[in-house]
Amino acid sequence: MRQLFPLARPLTVEIGFGSGESLLEMAREQPRVNFLGIDVYQPGIGRLLQGIVEHDLTNVRLICHDAVEVFAGNLAVESVDRVLMLFPDPWPRKRHHKRRLVQPDFMRLVQSRLRSGGEVHLATDWPPYLEHMMAVMERIPGFSNCCGENACWESPERPLTRFELRGRRLGHEVRDLLYRKSEFS
Ligand SMILES: C[S@@+](CC[C@H](N)C(=O)[O-])C[C@H]1O[C@@H](n2cnc3c(N)ncnc32)[C@H](O)[C@@H]1O
Repeated sequence: MRQLFPLARPLTVEIGFGSGESLLEMAREQPRVNFLGIDVYQPGIGRLLQGIVEHDLTNVRLICHDAVEVFAGNLAVESVDRVLMLFPDPWPRKRHHKRRLVQPDFMRLVQSRLRSGGEVHLATDWPPYLEHMMAVMERIPGFSNCCGENACWESPERPLTRFELRGRRLGHEVRDLLYRKSEFS
């Protein structure tokens, strides 16, 4: 990551930023944090690049590629301070559950790229996916739920996202989860 950012600063990685409004807002509000956005949705990448140029931001980089491959091949062990996965595709049909991004193998890979004390912030508006996220995360040794066992984060610190706004309009209940990598995992 040192090659990507001019200044070595804490690194937040957002997986699946979509159209990128919330990533843009966070990067503007936290100029002393480096942000890496990973998504495969090209129109969103174009829109976000426009915002980065408009606001003259130097603390954001984007990668248009599968996040699983980026974590496996491009991010160094213990190099990331925070990972955001806000409203990953819920894949509601049972036969598609295996396509969900939050899976034990991937979350263990994410854990290996986090520094000790680093955090994973998850959000969803789909209750079965919330249960699935909790089941996956609570079973990985070395992650602890910052809000207590099986508890959600009631006042999450993040901007609203476009997907979330759509869900709220439809009456969906939004839930956030925050997990921390322990010192000795
Ligand atoms: C439901 S959208 C949510 C977008 C945004 N976080 C929001 O809340 O508005 C999920 C996003 O994850 C991206 N995505 C899904 N699987 C991905 C993967 N394996 N690697 C990178 N991005 C992925 C999709 O392209 C999409 O933009």
